[in-house]
Amino acid sequence: MTSAVDRPRVLRIAMNGVTGRMGYRQHLLRSILPLREAGGVTLPDGSRVQVEPILVGRNERKLVDLAQQHKVEQWTTDVEGVLADPTVDVFFDAGMTSHRSALLQRAMRAGKHVFTEKPVAETLEDAVALAALAAQTGITAGVVHDKLYLPGLVKLRRLVDEGFFGRILSIRGEFGYWVFEGDQQAAQRPSWNYRTAEGGGITTDMFCHWSYVLEGIIGRVRSVSALSVTHIPQRWDEQGRPYDATADDAAYAVFELETPAGDPVVGQINSSWAVRVHRDELVEFQVDGTHGSAVAGLQSCVAQQRAHTPKPVWNPDLPVTDPFRDQWLDVPANAELENGFKRQWEEFLRDVVAGRPHRFGLESAARGVQLAELGLRSSAERRTLDVPELSL
Ligand SMILES: NC(=O)c1ccc[n+]([C@@H]2O[C@H](COP(=O)([O-])OP(=O)(O)OC[C@H]3O[C@@H](n4cnc5c(N)ncnc54)[C@H](O)[C@@H]3O)[C@@H](O)[C@H]2O)c1
Repeated sequence: MTSAVDRPRVLRIAMNGVTGRMGYRQHLLRSILPLREAGGVTLPDGSRVQVEPILVGRNERKLVDLAQQHKVEQWTTDVEGVLADPTVDVFFDAGMTSHRSALLQRAMRAGKHVFTEKPVAETLEDAVALAALAAQTGITAGVVHDKLYLPGLVKLRRLVDEGFFGRILSIRGEFGYWVFEGDQQAAQRPSWNYRTAEGGGITTDMFCHWSYVLEGIIGRVRSVSALSVTHIPQRWDEQGRPYDATADDAAYAVFELETPAGDPVVGQINSSWAVRVHRDELVEFQVDGTHGSAVAGLQSCVAQQRAHTPKPVWNPDLPVTDPFRDQWLDVPANAELENGFKRQWEEFLRDVVAGRPHRFGLESAARGVQLAELGLRSSAERRTLDVPELSL
């Protein structure tokens, strides 16, 4: 535990990949800059620790523009220099997935605390090695588990904690939207997402989210059966050039879960970049239990109790008159829930100051990589695979 006297007044955070979509929008713009504006992170004793970003990247011009636009004093293209700088406390990475594990290793060996986007590595072996290194070096490591900080999922988790569902039977998730091919209209996601060689693919991208979401809401994932496919085989890149989309753009998966009490729950999640949205939100989860059900999106959560459950009768000859969507009650937040990335940053930085582990560390990150790997293997081998416990 760091005492109030030797507690740092400023945490210097090297931010790699801030010119990218996530690094810029969620981490710099919505998290670190607002925290700096507010005077830093508030600690349990009411004092504050200020944050000082250092922008790290390859393109000097983009870094200078960003630094000027947001009044950030320091930027650099020299990652090694940043890692060798003893005044840098935290190394954050939102760069390309394929570069991540090597960068994080170097940062931890240099004694930096690390906070990182997911997936932490491209292979389970690398992800486990990272988790083991974090445990050895004793630094505070955190991986973005942003979905668990979303208002909708916070409310859903609260219903689980309150015993609202009775015995939980199943959780079903529907994630996705249409990502334009890039010929007529520009794609709204980077082209590397659709190339296997560059770490792309929806299974790799989303199963590390589903791992912690399922674990954080229901319990550990014990098996996976997935079908990962490439629906759109050709796309057009940022320069308008056609390319072969080698990576999967949809994954249809069934998971066997286990609650902390040891009860089995069935999970099922569709993930797709080739689906059009007929939902209220881009991701929705429905949990059904013996005493009640709930549907949560990013923001909202609605619930229906056993006593309020209507009794529909199947009759294909009659038009539907039941107002099904009106039969659910909104679950209030009862608290102000700010941007999820920002709230996790605050929690992580408090952990750094206190010198303790972050609750979503590199072991949890490795389980995400494990689930993605097993999902792809399950699809290739057309069979259900157990998810073994990891040993570091
Ligand atoms: N938590 C989430 O919900 C979420 C959502 C999307 C992406 N991500 C993760 O965030 C990371 C970044 O994704 P993004 O969508 O922002 O991607 P992006 O392509 O917009 O940004 C990637 C960054 O890497 C840099 N980069 C690109 N090519 C490079 C190269 N050859 N060498 C070195 N650097 C290079 C880019 O300049 C940019 O700064 C990925 O690991 C992705 O999996 C997380």
